[in-house]
Amino acid sequence: MANKDRVFIFDTTMRDGEQSPGASMSLEEKIQISRVFDELGIDIIEAGFPIASPGDFEAVSAISKVLKKSIPCGLARHSKKDIDRCYEALKHAPRFRIHTFISTSPLHMKHKLNKTPDQVYESIKEHVTYARNLTDDVEWSCEDGTRTDMDYMCKTVELAIKSGAKTINIPDTVGYTVPSEFTKIIETLLNKVPNIDKAILSTHCHNDLGLAVANSLAGIQAGARQIECTINGIGERAGNAALEEVVMAIRTRNDLMPYETGINTTLLSKASKLVSNVTGFPVQYNKAIVGKNAFAHESGIHQDGMLKNRNTYEIMTPESVGVKQTSLVMGKHSGRHAFKDKLISLGYADLTDDVIENAFGKFKVLADKKKHIYDEDIIALVDDSLILDNKANTIALKSLKVFAGTGEPQRAEMTLDVNGQVKSATETGDGPVDAIFKCIKNLYPHDVNLQLYQVHAVTEGTDAQATVSVRIEENGKTTVGQAADTDTLVASANAYIAALNKMILKREKTAPAMEQDKERMRGI
Ligand code: KIV
Ligand code: ZN
Repeated sequence: MANKDRVFIFDTTMRDGEQSPGASMSLEEKIQISRVFDELGIDIIEAGFPIASPGDFEAVSAISKVLKKSIPCGLARHSKKDIDRCYEALKHAPRFRIHTFISTSPLHMKHKLNKTPDQVYESIKEHVTYARNLTDDVEWSCEDGTRTDMDYMCKTVELAIKSGAKTINIPDTVGYTVPSEFTKIIETLLNKVPNIDKAILSTHCHNDLGLAVANSLAGIQAGARQIECTINGIGERAGNAALEEVVMAIRTRNDLMPYETGINTTLLSKASKLVSNVTGFPVQYNKAIVGKNAFAHESGIHQDGMLKNRNTYEIMTPESVGVKQTSLVMGKHSGRHAFKDKLISLGYADLTDDVIENAFGKFKVLADKKKHIYDEDIIALVDDSLILDNKANTIALKSLKVFAGTGEPQRAEMTLDVNGQVKSATETGDGPVDAIFKCIKNLYPHDVNLQLYQVHAVTEGTDAQATVSVRIEENGKTTVGQAADTDTLVASANAYIAALNKMILKREKTAPAMEQDKERMRGI
């Protein structure tokens, strides 16, 4: 009998999850996933369906050897051959589970199995007993359980327990049930099956109506103590209950669901990324818990609330699921409070209200035009508000030729106008961009740190317009230059020169202030 407050997490990402069309995983990938799942604290890992293919057999066998804490499990139909194969794959593990199943709904028994309810009943006795002779950890599932006649289900569950099953799993195979109905099913089993206290009841909910997590939680609130689920909710058709969602729901609403799982929730994000990378199934941006936007706030009202007190719009911390921090995404809905906060985080702590107001106006105009506002965009527009007083630029690009390719070091030939003087230089470099930046340094000697060089394609195709952003730093002051051109190298030169021109203006603006500061300190 399970500890009443402990809910066991049974993961089937590598069995039911792999049944998603296109989600197949290699042996090495499955081993990598298993190690992370073991660390995550999953209680039982269903590693595959050993009879399905030699690859599945090999994976279940290999996984059963690498797990340190999680119990490996394999799936088997009601067939001695299936059960034997499952046993052969798992037998090296100190503890393992055989999960055997058969359909019990009238529809499945008649059309899929071509068996009478009595024949299915007999099969339960024969196959659960057979599996139990190979291991004392046997799980039995009544496939299409939620469309099974309740009296018949009670009879079959009683028999499966009598035959040796320690876990009874009730699958909502086609994702058809709703929380109130699933609650009733679990309650009826607990009330009517005489030997139910000898087994743990388990949920296995599919997501065809988007109710897999809600149904699983209803199941445990009604008395089930194991949830079968998958990372990112992958699985047949619309998938299974998402592990990260059930676990975080239990943790966050522990006032209503006073249970515990063994999951180290800070590894949820890592597990989600790994499964997504391995399967190639992207995680939708707004996916609960692990979606890119799950902890991102853009609306001005929300950002303002978050800055005053995180609890206003955050029911769990990003750190609790392994995400570094909440992101206040700057976009057209962001307000002044978040904008000011962003400026402070970018090093602009002492701007006057006028400058902030001016920059905020420009930011709103930009946000209407541009989907993604990068930190560089904000730095650029603040710099514009701060220092661009229509003063002519010190440096201008006159011409650029770049020699790139294999064999020789890349070379740039450049002509610049520096303070009205036209100068040329040639430099080689570690790549064409390095050669270009060296030419600029040669023609206008300076000493700044290059903090960022980034190329964004603004349009698609090989003729795409590229926007290059360059951020440089000198004595704690930062400037960003941006330039666009169909030639990425020309855009790179112009972006660097733009950042340098701004730095020159910034130097000129701050120099008198520094002198004043010094004079103030000398008491003049
Ligand atoms: O959905 C289902 O019914 C299953 C069983 C094999 C447990 O995956
Ligand atoms: Zn399933």
